[in-house]
Amino acid sequence: MTDSYILAIDQGTTSTRAIIFDRSGSIVASDQVEHEQIFPRAGWVEHDPIEIWENTRKVIGGALARANLNSGNIEAVGITNQRETAVVWDKTTGQPVYNAIVWQDTRTQKIVDRLGGEQGVEKYKSVCGLPLATYFSGPKVAWILENVDGAREKAEAGDLLFGNTDTWVLWNLTGGAENDGVHVTDVTNASRTMLMDLSSLTWDSSIADDMGIPMSMLPQIKSSSEVYGECRPGVLKGTPVAGILGDQQAATFGQACLEKGMAKNTYGTGNFMLLNTGTEQVPSENGLLTTVCYKLGEEQVVYALEGSIAVTGSLVQWIRDNLGMISSAPEIETLAQSVEDNGGAYFVPAFSGLFAPHWRPDARGALVGLTRYVNKGHIARAVLESTAFQTREVLDAMNADSGVPLTELKVDGGMVVNETLMQFQADILGVDVVRPKVAETTALGAAYAAGLAVGYWDSTGDITANWGEDKRWTPQMDTEERERRYRLWNKAVTKTLDWVD
Ligand code: G3P
Repeated sequence: MTDSYILAIDQGTTSTRAIIFDRSGSIVASDQVEHEQIFPRAGWVEHDPIEIWENTRKVIGGALARANLNSGNIEAVGITNQRETAVVWDKTTGQPVYNAIVWQDTRTQKIVDRLGGEQGVEKYKSVCGLPLATYFSGPKVAWILENVDGAREKAEAGDLLFGNTDTWVLWNLTGGAENDGVHVTDVTNASRTMLMDLSSLTWDSSIADDMGIPMSMLPQIKSSSEVYGECRPGVLKGTPVAGILGDQQAATFGQACLEKGMAKNTYGTGNFMLLNTGTEQVPSENGLLTTVCYKLGEEQVVYALEGSIAVTGSLVQWIRDNLGMISSAPEIETLAQSVEDNGGAYFVPAFSGLFAPHWRPDARGALVGLTRYVNKGHIARAVLESTAFQTREVLDAMNADSGVPLTELKVDGGMVVNETLMQFQADILGVDVVRPKVAETTALGAAYAAGLAVGYWDSTGDITANWGEDKRWTPQMDTEERERRYRLWNKAVTKTLDWVD
């Protein structure tokens, strides 16, 4: 019998990866290529969709070669992706009409203000679960149609397609312009556009109309686990693509947060905490998003509450690339360990305004509490602590919304190898922080969604059975000290508001 596996594509904010998993959920091989971050102006962030697609092909080939496998060994492909990032392309030529506008990009503030009118951020919340913000895809598509020459005419003629990067990758994988690629997204990605009705799981034509987006541009919405189509050209020819989950939802799934009340926090370029709320939509009173967690085939949809933080890991990159204070990301921990504490410094990285729970687009980053005493080590500590403090804000909001305090937090993502941060995280939250054995939960979640659809795994019970604990951090800070530091953090946050003219 041929050995068989599932291949997951993780099209993330900074890189694209392909990871091959076996039945135990262990990694067999992987490949990863970074793509360019394009910053044309302050607040603008773009990616080249062609580069992303080329990288996707490269990493699929790379992972297969490393494992010495071919398409005959791959039972299905799953896709997970940076959510909200908007690609608009010509369906006849396959060429994007503009770069992808990335989720962190704030250029749509004027569009958002115009759409909100008197009702402001609450305008569409009862329909789509989201506050009106620059973060989501809809306003980004509106910007492209309003600002790219000829785009509106082409869109109205039915020549343009929109997708988050899941749809862009799927369309190209399944044939693209030449072979009638499949134009589909899953419910989790659709729930991040501001265009989907969270109850009916269909596009809301009146919101699309307000944003000037023709319905013909929108992909068909399907579940997160079913066969969408087959790979056409390329090394995976004939292999079904059978799972799609936005990356944070994929991590929630891969972390086996399959029951109401279970939550995970992913430490990537930003941080995203998701709490499974079961088949019930919980509207947030505390600045969180109501979003789709997953939907498996014909089964009932599962919802989540989400706390999205725009800048955590990307602050470490900024310290490395823009300030040159460190030459590699892991050095931040060595530098932070050179001192006992933050020396009084607090860093609020409001580079894309502040997301949850504040939703303040007018905020900009600030480093406060400085004295001559503060050195590079203290700043490194303040950088790491900012991730933990922002997570505390989100956890407090989640506890308030759900009414049931979390007793431990499952973590994953690149920064969870940082022991200093993880201990401080447990200290500042006052709950245990738990890291799983397979930290690549995002790709794993997409693999599970695809594998379940084709019968590679029998049921979600396999996901729970495969999950194992690697390490647990228990709070060591006393309550008074924890609250003192958190109070100072909150004071620092107030210094970042009302900054934009
Ligand atoms: O909402 C944005 C999120 O999906 C991006 O995740 O891991 O690519 O930073 P990541």
